[in-house]
Amino acid sequence: MLRSGLLLGHFWEFGAEEGDEVAGTPRIMTTASWPQVEENTDMATASKRQKTPEMPFVCLTDFQAQARERLSKTTWDYIEGGAGEGFTKEDNIAAFKKIRLRPRYLKDVSEVDTRTIIQGEKISAPICISPTGFHCLAWPDGEMSTARAAQAADICYITSTYASCTLEDIVATAPRGLRWFQLYVQRDRQLNKQLIQRVESLGFKALVITVDVPITGNRRHDIRNQVDLKTNLLLKDLRSPKESSGPCLQMSSIDPSNCWDDLSWLQSITQLPIILKGILTKEDAELAVKHNVQGIIVSNHGGRQLDEVLASIDALTEVVAAVKGKIEVYLDGGIRTGNDVLKSLALGAKCVFLGRPILWGLACKGERGVEEVLNILKNEFHTSMTLTGCRSVAEINRDLIQFSRL
Ligand code: FNR
Repeated sequence: MLRSGLLLGHFWEFGAEEGDEVAGTPRIMTTASWPQVEENTDMATASKRQKTPEMPFVCLTDFQAQARERLSKTTWDYIEGGAGEGFTKEDNIAAFKKIRLRPRYLKDVSEVDTRTIIQGEKISAPICISPTGFHCLAWPDGEMSTARAAQAADICYITSTYASCTLEDIVATAPRGLRWFQLYVQRDRQLNKQLIQRVESLGFKALVITVDVPITGNRRHDIRNQVDLKTNLLLKDLRSPKESSGPCLQMSSIDPSNCWDDLSWLQSITQLPIILKGILTKEDAELAVKHNVQGIIVSNHGGRQLDEVLASIDALTEVVAAVKGKIEVYLDGGIRTGNDVLKSLALGAKCVFLGRPILWGLACKGERGVEEVLNILKNEFHTSMTLTGCRSVAEINRDLIQFSRL
């Protein structure tokens, strides 16, 4: 199995060359640009995995604590870190705790149904997976494990542009799963077009355009750890394995000139619904509706881009009000409990997405860890619904919410 110290850049992807694949393992680049000191740590981590006795994991933060033990410091910092002083990253969680619930009783809650529909597709609960790059950092099978767990849980998995497994492998390993594809719009239009056509033909059901990364945020941990974001990068070729010519992502990068007017070009080359990820204001929400996108993910990239922006849950209300029910609104950032899911839906989100908790699950137990993270959260959400008197997600509304006066 190829395991590497990996270097990440927001604009680069990496992967093995054709032929580097070993049966049953993902394609990972072998050129290490993650600091050398981490090389052996990954091996130590692997042996720790075998020795650590099975622990009961009862909530998402149990996975966080164990993941920290199991990952190398550089990898942990990369996954966990926020931008700047980490204020928004912390606030994503703290803001949920300022909201109190108003339960209603004496309703028949003997049957509670967590199922819902996003973009016309049924899912078992409004709890899905945000795009995060480089899952092979957390577990050798990387995105293939994530995809299988998402399929088993019957929820949506947004695959990142920077997946460390090929899109073909991800689809092959979980062919029945609901998948959306997250695109960082590249400077090279032809490359965007090829990638979009490829995900469309692979059966991805929506295109998620991340708008909050014209450049990478200032991530101090990565700088301190000398994670070099600009050099020594080996990029996975995002072209289809069948394509022998045409542009290659290696020569390209995220396009900071991308703007509202460019959406019409994207819309002209795909039939897929387009969802904008990273919207935080009513002004941009109104523009999104005006430009005929099909959905918005209210998100601050888990506090990894601009520090001191609003917590996601604090931005949700103005975005929901601005779109006036014309398109679906989702949220990610700081979801750690079933109550967080309930509060998000009460304030107008159709569904929430998880970033870091999925990587914690992967780091602890691979596919099984992701399944457990999803199941724990789904069970907590079921309990939250039951104890507030909501028998279906349609019954979750603004009346459940009391903003704390503290
Ligand atoms: C991310 N995020 C992200 N977003 C995106 O659109 N494309 C990507 O490739 C990545 N990669 C990525 C890597 C890592 C390690 C993290 C932690 C996050 C942001 C992600 O989709 C999501 O917005 C946040 O992670 C949500 O916050 P929580 O759930 O981590 O608090």
